[in-house]
Amino acid sequence: MDLVTISRESLSGVVSDAQARSWCAQLEAGGILYFPETPVPIRHEDIAFLLGQQQTDSSLHKNIAYKPNVDKLSGVDTKTADAAAVARLQSIMRQYSKSVVAFLTGFLSPYQGKWELDYASFRPQEEQGRDLPLRKRNDLLHTDAFPTRPTHGARILRFFNNIHPSRTRDWVVGDPFATIVRQFTPAEIAPSPDSGLGRVAKGLGRAVGLGAALPSIKRSPYDDFMMRFHNFLKENERFQAECAKYAWQFPAGSSWMVYTDAVPHAVLAGQYALEQTLLVKPEALVAPETSPLKVLEGIAGTALV
Ligand code: SIN
Ligand code: FE
Repeated sequence: MDLVTISRESLSGVVSDAQARSWCAQLEAGGILYFPETPVPIRHEDIAFLLGQQQTDSSLHKNIAYKPNVDKLSGVDTKTADAAAVARLQSIMRQYSKSVVAFLTGFLSPYQGKWELDYASFRPQEEQGRDLPLRKRNDLLHTDAFPTRPTHGARILRFFNNIHPSRTRDWVVGDPFATIVRQFTPAEIAPSPDSGLGRVAKGLGRAVGLGAALPSIKRSPYDDFMMRFHNFLKENERFQAECAKYAWQFPAGSSWMVYTDAVPHAVLAGQYALEQTLLVKPEALVAPETSPLKVLEGIAGTALV
């Protein structure tokens, strides 16, 4: 898979429309845009504060989410956490979220105004050897889907900062969605003239042993598939063993961005990262035919949202 390196110098001038479109196209084709020196720098004292959390305050240990639209943190136990520390964390996350958006507004101008701002996160845990239930493990290759936040065809674009003072964040990525969905998805969802919505959902459901759709969350058939596919990939030993693998180590102080709904990824080691998720609307895409939605609709022969 392509890793496109973008130097600090190349960002100093005004980004042309053609250049911005080509960056969008590279992302949509399953590439990773990699910034050896982050274009979203974080103040030293803020990094020092974030690095201090792991040692000092057990209530701030988990992945912590920040919801920019309502300016709220989650994953923090406010009953036991020090109120001043929580307020500081919130203000750092608020600033981080704003800075990523400000950068991407210019950098990915074709998407401007056509995304929804999703959560940001602070990831203070060591990733190597994390003890998590299988479907929550991030050291297994997977494409992202959110159990409680269906996207209805919007794309999951994630921007990361490795804020560890010295260590790399070690990823493995695979071939993009259009390749793996054909290579590894069970025959039940292969395209056929009668494969309607129900068939796509039911077919993969049977293959991954899920039975009926999960209740209570309004998912489109697309979201249903993407959620099942996430689980299916993590649970599938043949996929984990046989899929193409490309290892990337993102150094301290770097940033990278990728469509994690289409690029299978796993994090094997590393500690302390910040991340902001954007949901890019289908009409913003510069190459919509390569999107998981269009690929799946091609396979199903029918609309899925
Ligand atoms: C993931 O989205 O699977 C985790 C990526 C990371 O935390 O580096
Ligand atoms: Fe993921």
